[in-house]
Amino acid sequence: MDIHKGKDSKALAEVWGDYVDWDKRRLGENGFLISTLKRFNCREVFDAGLGDGADSIYLLRNGFEVTSNELDRHFILKAEENSEKHDIRLKITEYDWADLDKHFQENDFGAVVCFGNSLTHIFGRDNQLRVLRNFYRILKKGGILIADERNFQYILDKKDEIVNGGRFRYTGKYVYCGDKVHGRPVEVSDDRVCFEIENERTGDKWHFLIYPFKRGELLSLLKEAGFSKVEQYSDYRRGYNPDADFHQYVCVK
Ligand SMILES: C[S@@+](CC[C@H](N)C(=O)[O-])C[C@H]1O[C@@H](n2cnc3c(N)ncnc32)[C@H](O)[C@@H]1O
Repeated sequence: MDIHKGKDSKALAEVWGDYVDWDKRRLGENGFLISTLKRFNCREVFDAGLGDGADSIYLLRNGFEVTSNELDRHFILKAEENSEKHDIRLKITEYDWADLDKHFQENDFGAVVCFGNSLTHIFGRDNQLRVLRNFYRILKKGGILIADERNFQYILDKKDEIVNGGRFRYTGKYVYCGDKVHGRPVEVSDDRVCFEIENERTGDKWHFLIYPFKRGELLSLLKEAGFSKVEQYSDYRRGYNPDADFHQYVCVK
């Protein structure tokens, strides 16, 4: 699947590590991922969007059983290269989230991790619900979905300022922390955002369209998909903070 328009996804996979900055991502979440997985006694984890392997490799190194899913061939190759460096073996699947019910049983996983603002790639309420219901389905009872989203409400509220070259407020401490490869919205409307990733060193740019969830929208979709208990975090702190860069959800089946 080609979700990254502009310069090719092979080149993006190559610099994704500089966009994430693996060490700073870990500093930003400060143990949130592992402590949450342990709090809910999760062992088998489905990492829904492997990317370059940042989260899967971290979880495998910390003793979790991880199935890593990715649709983009170049990201798979990059993640495999990264896993070899860490002497770790990835177990990779290549499924569209919309079809997960065809490939996994109910109750297969203790946790689904969908990190890095990944759900924003799904457009349309029915498609979003279908994906979330599939995540719900493959979880054991008591298992959790951990998902995140950018602070889209801020982006929508300040769209004129942001797209006209004004400040895009972003601390760079969470999730995507690179200082030479960074992203910002370049077009914003209520139903889509064109997000640009730029490699400052080379001037290369990639653009992709993402869906901007409104305040409370993802939370209510998660509940509608079946998750009766949802904990909300802002930059990994409990509660809703309108000034956060990212919001995280821990959703219990
Ligand atoms: C923004 S990247 C995040 C990658 C990684 N989780 C990270 O944090 O660096 C979005 C991920 O979502 C995946 N993705 C988007 N839509 C998908 C779909 N319908 N089915 C499966 N994966 C999908 C992409 O392949 C990609 O891995």
